[in-house]
Amino acid sequence: MVNFAPLVVLAASLTVIASPMEKRTVAAVETDLGFISGNVTSLNNAINAFTAPNNLVAALNIHSGAVALEAAITQGTKDVVATGPVSEADATTIINLVKGIQPGIISALTNIVTKKPLFDNTTVISGLGSIVKSDLNTLNSDTSAFETALVNAAPADLKANATTIVTAINSAFAAAVSAYASEK
Ligand SMILES: *[C@@H]1O[C@H](CO)[C@@H](O)[C@H](O)[C@H]1NC(C)=O
Ligand SMILES: *[C@@H]1O[C@H](CO)[C@@H](O)[C@H](O)[C@H]1NC(C)=O
Ligand SMILES: *[C@@H]1O[C@H](CO)[C@@H](O)[C@H](O)[C@H]1NC(C)=O
Repeated sequence: MVNFAPLVVLAASLTVIASPMEKRTVAAVETDLGFISGNVTSLNNAINAFTAPNNLVAALNIHSGAVALEAAITQGTKDVVATGPVSEADATTIINLVKGIQPGIISALTNIVTKKPLFDNTTVISGLGSIVKSDLNTLNSDTSAFETALVNAAPADLKANATTIVTAINSAFAAAVSAYASEK
């Protein structure tokens, strides 16, 4: 017969020492948001650099940028979930960081819609638009998971603030996803 009692005691003591680590985890979330911000900027630069239909290197850079951003967002979601509910002060810091990233995300999504004719006019290879479509769908669902985690972690009085920021991001995503929806 296995004795589980020591495990229960261990689990209880881990719970007790888990709380002082909150600050460190909030710091991890802040680091993640810095990475997300940097990756949004890189992705936006890559999108802007795609200026001719058959520039495959530039098109590939957009895909790489999207994949890197996805990784940064997924890590952010993990750390927000691991942190759990945050204080007013931490939530305010996090909300302001997300607020700072929001225009870059919306700009990247607007730009990718503007570039659609270039993807569609590519003649040396087919299916570039469908890669964009797939990246947009993945980024959209990763971002939704991140947004849900952020709103869940926010104190009750700041949930509306967090929701306002994510609503604007979601509508830009909806427009971009819809622009590429017909790609096969
Ligand atoms: C993108 O995110 C990764 C972590 O996922 C980070 O290592 C990298 O520095 C970020 N890139 C930029 C340009 O910020
Ligand atoms: C939350 O929203 C309220 C109402 O718009 C605003 O007064 C307050 O400054 C916001 N707080 C943060 C942390 O953004
Ligand atoms: C796409 O190709 C059509 C037909 O060749 C051309 O008229 C149009 O200007 C091209 N658009 C772009 C954005 O390259």
